[in-house]
Amino acid sequence: MERTLVLIKPDGVQRGLLGEVISRLERRGLRLVGAKFMQVSQDLAEIHYAIHKGKPFYNGLIAYITSAPVMAMVWEGPNAIAAVRQTMGATRPTEAAPGSVRHDFALEVGRNLTHASDSVENGIAEVSLWFADQELVNWERATDSWIFE
Ligand code: RTP
Ligand code: MG
Repeated sequence: MERTLVLIKPDGVQRGLLGEVISRLERRGLRLVGAKFMQVSQDLAEIHYAIHKGKPFYNGLIAYITSAPVMAMVWEGPNAIAAVRQTMGATRPTEAAPGSVRHDFALEVGRNLTHASDSVENGIAEVSLWFADQELVNWERATDSWIFE
């Protein structure tokens, strides 16, 4: 079972796309483990995006992610990392597969609506950066055996 950190970024919140994105993840079969609606601090933004420090888009990226609230969530399931990134689509919306969130709702890389962890290790690290242990719920869903083999 893999876990991934998903953020619905400020543009997704402002555009009223929380339900749309959450609905797609539920429909896919992933299981929600934690969620909080929050304002991202400058410190958290800088730690989360540390890998991009020094790149030309870094300052804009920090301004973007701190510009309005985000919906931070943890989703789990078999192959959750690949599944969620596929549901979101490629980083650049014009390269995202038709039917993906970024294809269907976005045009620009700097307004691409969501974040999702890009590896199992980064999933573990990002979940512990964004959530305390007691904010995560371990539970069994009635439909699990019909979705998880
Ligand atoms: P994310 O981390 O948000 O899930 O996105 P990603 O893996 O698909 O893309 P990543 O390379 O990690 O970049 C993080 C976010 O930075 C913004 N970005 N802007 N202007 C640019 O060339 C550029 N490149 C990246 C995007 O908002 C991207 O999601
Ligand atoms: Mg990334």
